Parts: sequence; C-alpha cells; structure tokens
Amino acid sequence: MKPPALARLSHPSFRSSSTPRLLPSSPGITLPPRNHPPSCSLLSTYPLSRSPLSTARLIAQHALWQHDLRFLLHPTIQSSLSLPTLSPTSPPHNTTSPTTPLRIHDLATGTALWPLSLLQSLTPPSTSPAHHDPPPQPPSAPPITITASDISLLQTPHPSFLPPALETAEWDIYSPAGVPPHWVSAFDIIHIRLALLVVQGGEAGAREVVRRGYSMLRPGGWMQWDELDVEGAGVLNGAHPTTEAERAEKARFLRMQELASLEHLRWVRRLPGLFGEVGFGEVGRESVEGERSSAGLLQMLQFLVMQEEMEGFEMAGKEEGERVRGDIEWGRRMVAERGWVRYVPKVVVVGRKPG
Ligand SMILES: C[S@@+](CC[C@H](N)C(=O)[O-])C[C@H]1O[C@@H](n2cnc3c(N)ncnc32)[C@H](O)[C@@H]1O
Repeated sequence: MKPPALARLSHPSFRSSSTPRLLPSSPGITLPPRNHPPSCSLLSTYPLSRSPLSTARLIAQHALWQHDLRFLLHPTIQSSLSLPTLSPTSPPHNTTSPTTPLRIHDLATGTALWPLSLLQSLTPPSTSPAHHDPPPQPPSAPPITITASDISLLQTPHPSFLPPALETAEWDIYSPAGVPPHWVSAFDIIHIRLALLVVQGGEAGAREVVRRGYSMLRPGGWMQWDELDVEGAGVLNGAHPTTEAERAEKARFLRMQELASLEHLRWVRRLPGLFGEVGFGEVGRESVEGERSSAGLLQMLQFLVMQEEMEGFEMAGKEEGERVRGDIEWGRRMVAERGWVRYVPKVVVVGRKPG
C-alpha cells in the first residue's frame, strides 16, 4: 500500500458533509459510567500527564498544528462573523472589529495557548512588558472575551499572567451537573481541539460534547472541533513491505502509538453527522494533510505522549509500563534506521446553530 500523500494545505471553502439532517437537540443522553466504558480502560480517565514536560509538549503541538492549519478559526467562521484575518502572522486589525462583544469558549483548553494566540491575532500588541503589573482594564468591554475551561488548570498560566479578555475556568466537560446556567446560550464560538482521549464512551460521549457545545451557543453561533483523523493514519517513508514480517512490523509501529483502540475512536469520522444530529446547520469538514516536516516533528512528540502513558502505568504499578518502554525504544530505532514516521491527517469540523 502506498503511504498517504502529503500536500500543502490549501484553503478551499468547506466541502459540505453528507447532507446532515437537522434534528432538535438530542434529549436525555445517558453516558456510560465514567470508570467503566466497555473494554476501553484507557478512555475511562485522561491517561496523559500534566507535568512540565507534558505542558511543553502541548505548547510544541500547538505550534505544529498552527504550522499546518494556518488558521485558528476556520475561514468560514471568520468571514461569517466578519472577523479580522486571524492568521497569527498577519497584522492585527486589518478589518473592522465587530461592534458587539464576541464571546468565545475553548473547551479542554490545556495550556490556553489556542485562546491566547487567538486574542493576540485580534488585538493590538500590548506595550507593557510581561514582568510589569498588568495594565488597567480598559473602560469599555473588550470587543472579544474568551473563556478557556479544562478539568484541570495545572497547565494554564496563573490568571494574573493572562490578558483581561481571557478567563480560565475549571470544568469537567462531562460534569453531571451539566453546563453551568451562565454559560447556556452565552457564546458566539465554541472551540475544542485534540479531545481524542477526553471523549468517553465513543460516539455517545462525542455526541454529548457536541450537544453541550450546542447548548452553550447563542443562535447563529459556531462550533469548531479540530481533531486527529486516526482512522486515516499511515506510515510515511517506509518502503512497501515485501514480506509478512515487514508488514507485521509496520502494523506494530502504527498500532503501538494509538493510546486507545480504533474501535473507540470511530466517532472522529462521525463528527459531521453528530453535529447534524444535535441540530447544527451549515456543517462542514475539512481534512488538512499538513507538511511532511510537521509529520516528522509530530512523530517525535508522539514518543513523549508514549512516555507519559508509560509513566502513568509505572506509577500505577502496572506491567504495561515495561511494554511501552520497549515500544518507545524500538519505535525510535525504526524512525532512525528506516525513516518511518506515523502520519495522522487532521480534520476540522464546523457547524452553526440556527439563528
Ligand atoms: C490533548 S490535551 C489538548 C489541550 C488543548 N485543547 C490543545 O489543543 O492544546 C487534552 C486536554 O483535555 C483536558 N481534559 C481531560 N479530560 C477532560 C474533561 N473531562 N473535561 C475537560 N477537560 C478535560 C486535559 O486536562 C487536557 O488539558
């Protein structure tokens, strides 16, 4: 099988997903119990670390996602809301700002680097250096405010180091209490990225996240979900395997890097359908292939992910830690000796709450 071809990202407008049906929000979804999703223990609790190294990995990942996507908000959302060009490298304020304050929420934010980058791209550069006291709040409400929530805020900067327009909140996306009342119908944009290991219980769990995002939006608001298209994963640079042993090695190289079985991740390709089922209109999906260089760098970060998984097993006194340690050593050898790189396409799904 030929390795998947990589192309530079182009920015075509969204291909419409397969005509999503517009249905009312799904009532009363029952999630599987958090601690026991069927035969998928890794999805029961978030398996990655919040160590300084893990934080550095998230920061590096953000840079590589930006390198490939070249947008923070999909151009469809930008133009729909008449936002300035959101490329972090473009000069800010190159079009008029929206007249009413825009509220954005980044779910499972991690380091809060996505909202920080978005704010930077939308607001003029600050004249006060980071080590000074924060400047006084502007007298009028900022044109954009962002809430960044996560089940743990260990990886976000302390609030005193955040710009006034960005607030953080500790929130479990699966909180049994549901969406806090002050967040219902409160936002213009809901964003979530890299929630593969956050979603619990496969498709039902993903649908619940989409449903909660929908309920947090004002009519006319947009939801954007950036995810890894794990079903499209392949090995780059590898010569076509000629023997059964080579085929098995390549399969091992791919499989060992998945932290959950593909069976439980099929919801990623179902996202446009789930958006439609929950009630979103104007649903679109863009597959981003990215650059070969990013794939090579992301491969290195993937070994850090495996290291975090290994340390989790070891801390829990589980034997799997040894197996993952061996996998990392073997995988790094395959990268160095054979030039193998696991490649996973990225996918961006958007939908609009009817106005
Ligand atoms: C892979 S990181 C992605 C972080 C960020 N979205 C990014 O792209 O850089 C996943 C994040 O989800 C958070 N998380 C895990 N379970 C969660 C839950 N039930 N509710 C909210 N956040 C959760 C983790 O704490 C972590 O920060």
